[in-house]
Amino acid sequence: MTILVTGGAGYIGSHTCVELLQKGYDVIIADNFFNSSTDVPERIFKITGIQPKVYALDVADGNALEKVFAENPIDAVIHFAGLKAVGESCQIPLRYYRNNLDTTLTLLETMERHGCKKLVFSSSATVYGPKNESPYTENMDTSATNPYGWTKVMIEQILRDYCAANKDFSAVLLRYFNPIGAHESGLLGDDPNGIPNNLMPYVARVAAGQLPKLTIFGNDYPTRDGTCLRDYLHVVDLAKGHISALEYAEAHTGAEAFNLGTGDGVSVLELVNAFQKVNGVPVPYVIGGRRDGDLAEVYANPTRAHEELHWTAEKTVDDMCRDAWHFIRTRMEEA
Ligand code: WQD
Repeated sequence: MTILVTGGAGYIGSHTCVELLQKGYDVIIADNFFNSSTDVPERIFKITGIQPKVYALDVADGNALEKVFAENPIDAVIHFAGLKAVGESCQIPLRYYRNNLDTTLTLLETMERHGCKKLVFSSSATVYGPKNESPYTENMDTSATNPYGWTKVMIEQILRDYCAANKDFSAVLLRYFNPIGAHESGLLGDDPNGIPNNLMPYVARVAAGQLPKLTIFGNDYPTRDGTCLRDYLHVVDLAKGHISALEYAEAHTGAEAFNLGTGDGVSVLELVNAFQKVNGVPVPYVIGGRRDGDLAEVYANPTRAHEELHWTAEKTVDDMCRDAWHFIRTRMEEA
């Protein structure tokens, strides 16, 4: 089977390409490399021995995307391409709505012209919004508190409506919790441009001496140690969830959402301490004020993914910390 992976050079996309190739799928990457590096396909080759076909394009460019489908027998699409920074989306909302919605609508129109009827969509736990309580279940109402989150809510709705009008189409909506860690080779990992917004890449850069210290955004939350709880899962477990989702899409039609998380909440302090302990490296930190929009607890009820996708996150927090540290050290040795 041939799978088109939009955003396939990104953090989760690249790890998913590795798992797809190692499972015997043919992989085509479409990426504009706005938020990923052009050497990622080469790194995928180093890990798998297979060089995926790469199209450098903007998925919203209908003519460019038409060429991909005209030249390749695409059986299914995994759609990662999109802007994903919560804070930035509040500063430039139009760019987020235009980019994330246009890419998806152009993709669906192109898929329709070519009779491609299976889509796995990169959604997010952010669609649970502030009104629901953890552990989240897929039947809860969705909402958001920022334009990025609203694009995910809207795209899920677009896919539900599309499936209602096209009964033979399958859309699997994967709601990611907090993916962290890196491929065991150290060749792929979370390597954001500039100062990281997310916790783990920030912790890794502090540990590597690239940033002076971590600021923990608040320790006065109603949790066991006062810092926020999140459902961290290893990016390789998350990537494997996309294989399970493809298999599900093969056997089902309609739009179905699944939580991809461990079901366990881990606090910021617990993660920082695990990173220090596992890697034997200090992570200096200070306690700062709360970050706007942060919820005290965000973690999944992953039962549906276990039962319907036959998927369970297997790697531990220690594995996540170890692999994240190995990745940044590998990058430093390459520099
Ligand atoms: C985790 C915890 C912070 C940085 C975000 C997006 C979400 C999804 C995953 C796309 C929080 C604390 C962080 C720092 C800190 N992305 N923290 N100091 O906010 O749970 O989720 O990424 O789908 O949509 O919102 O992840 O890693 O930013 O924060 O104390 O320098 O770490 O307050 O409690 P978050 P995060």
